[in-house]
Amino acid sequence: MKEKFYITTPIYYPSDKLHIGHTYCTVATDAMARYKRMTGHDVIFLTGTDEHGQKIEDKAKAAGVSPQQFVDNIVLGEKGVQDLWKLMNISNDRFIRTTDDYHVEAIQKIFKKMYENGDIYKGSYKGKYCKPCESFWTESQLVDGKCPDCGRPVEDAEEEAYFFRLSKYADRVRDLLENTDFLEPRSRVHEMVNNFIKPGLEDLCVSRTSFTWGVPVDFDKGHVVYVWVDALFNYTTALGFMNGKYDDYKDFWPADVHFVGKEIVRFHSIIWPAMLMSMEMPLPKKVFGHGWLLLDGGKMSKSKGNVVDPYVLAEKFGVDALRFFLLRTFPFGSDGNFSNEALISTINTDLANDLGNLLSRTVSMIEKYFGGTLPVEQTEDAEKDEELVGLISNLRGLYEEQMEKYAFQNALAEIFNVISRANKYIDENTPWVLAKDMEANGKRLARVMYNLLEVLRVSAILLTPFMPTTSVEILRQIGACECCSKWEAAGVYGSLKADASVVRGENLFPRIDEAKMLAELEAEREAAMKANAKVEAPVEEEITIDEFAKVSLRCAEVIACERVEKSKKLLKLQVNLGYETRQVVSGIAEAYTPETLIGKKVILVSNLKPAKLMGIDSYGMILATKGSDGVLRVAFLDPETENGAEVR
Ligand code: ME8
Repeated sequence: MKEKFYITTPIYYPSDKLHIGHTYCTVATDAMARYKRMTGHDVIFLTGTDEHGQKIEDKAKAAGVSPQQFVDNIVLGEKGVQDLWKLMNISNDRFIRTTDDYHVEAIQKIFKKMYENGDIYKGSYKGKYCKPCESFWTESQLVDGKCPDCGRPVEDAEEEAYFFRLSKYADRVRDLLENTDFLEPRSRVHEMVNNFIKPGLEDLCVSRTSFTWGVPVDFDKGHVVYVWVDALFNYTTALGFMNGKYDDYKDFWPADVHFVGKEIVRFHSIIWPAMLMSMEMPLPKKVFGHGWLLLDGGKMSKSKGNVVDPYVLAEKFGVDALRFFLLRTFPFGSDGNFSNEALISTINTDLANDLGNLLSRTVSMIEKYFGGTLPVEQTEDAEKDEELVGLISNLRGLYEEQMEKYAFQNALAEIFNVISRANKYIDENTPWVLAKDMEANGKRLARVMYNLLEVLRVSAILLTPFMPTTSVEILRQIGACECCSKWEAAGVYGSLKADASVVRGENLFPRIDEAKMLAELEAEREAAMKANAKVEAPVEEEITIDEFAKVSLRCAEVIACERVEKSKKLLKLQVNLGYETRQVVSGIAEAYTPETLIGKKVILVSNLKPAKLMGIDSYGMILATKGSDGVLRVAFLDPETENGAEVR
């Protein structure tokens, strides 16, 4: 029977579109899930969305839609969460939404069970609440009076609430953290113990009454379950715990690993195990707290306006290249600085120069020297081949060692070490010199080519979790059969048949012109910023109704119109007010030609003091708007409006 492996990402808040930071964690989880499947495990990979809470309720209200419509749009809508995972080739087996009925039902049962076993009790909550983080804090936990997670202001909160006896589990949780390898990297253990456990774990407020968008506590109307209780148990409800939707709980729980970002390690390594202890459920085997992708040294956030859009990057660079970059460049446990320069440089160096070149050189040499198929008779040169063959044979073991530690960057470094050695092997063996005398050197040349194919074959197999599409294409181009494309064959040098036939394909990674690409990205970023720029509420001086009444606004029909000579901006119009016709000069010539205005009804400020514009008398002003695009647009009235009618 296959060994089971259960891996999860955090479930994302669908309060905004996801950015490259969210994509990072999901790609890492996907790579691990694919690796485990490749190595023969029976895998469940879970991701999803965490859809309740006040933040979502507020955002929906601001958008004028129901909370359900709001989250549906971000989760299921165009370029939403599910579209993004499809685009990024994420192979999740399950997608949970905390608004799914089966989950809601299960959360109600779980909450009740902890209430009945005495670990949840009713009290009154007084404290501080950080809305964006959906986190309660005590005064002593605040940093400079602000939320210790995000640094934003907190609000006073007091209400009747249920509490979870977190304090009761403090010793057991501390023991778990300090004396097992439950939480990794280990550096995060000290942070948790020193910052949260040593100062004393207080009981946790686990229900709210001040908003309704949450799982209702079914035995006490008006309370909704605290969003983190609702969210954390997703890892078990998605397997069928306390619901009939799935039946995988007994086979797949406890999870092998939860991948989570460092700011939610506290929830996963303290609150989560404590609640599982209360429920007498087995604990996950590991929580791995990964670092953040930073931008200019700071966290990406919608509010800072510096989020990086994965759709743009995937379109420009390709999905596999983007996936590869994320896991090749940053050590998974630490923060890393995202930049377009780093992205381009990784693609050019590793993918275009090293891997892409090795593939295209090898395939074209085999076509050129052997018509595409290697001869079976080949000559080894022990001295020249030994090192490379040794590297190929050892690669899978070294890679596996790193993958088992979730050290994606190191696993990839092992592969690229062999790829760059292979490029050097070409230069050492000078195939173009051997090819000059095929009779004497043909068999030796065939062996040199074969060894290059073996490097490509083993590398492509091991790269599959990172670049699923590209790996298949490499294996196709080098003529690898299904059997020698498997994990088992990645550990055995010589698995490819000697008379392999290559098939030339397109250049997998064309070199990117850095300057041109950076300019393109910058132009697109500016355009997107402009499009998203929030219109600041104007600061306006109030006027009274009597002051407004002094302005006479009337419907005026344009009956004649011409350009003002020597002026780009001005038009001279004759407008009819029913009781008289007047002349008006208006600065709208750049937006309208005279003919288009004739017959139109406009709003005229009819009691404005007469003025002279370029020497021409003007008796009033026509109302128009000027948008952020700088274009003037006249406020036209309904053609039925009577000339001279007052606008009020
Ligand atoms: O925390 N770099 O949801 P979320 C790396 N709903 N990772 C990042 C990142 C960045 N710049 N920005 C965000 C939640 N993330 C909860 C989880 S789980 C039971 C509930 C990561 O959408 C972040 O660290 O705010 C977190 O792990 C994940 O994206 C989801 O964040």
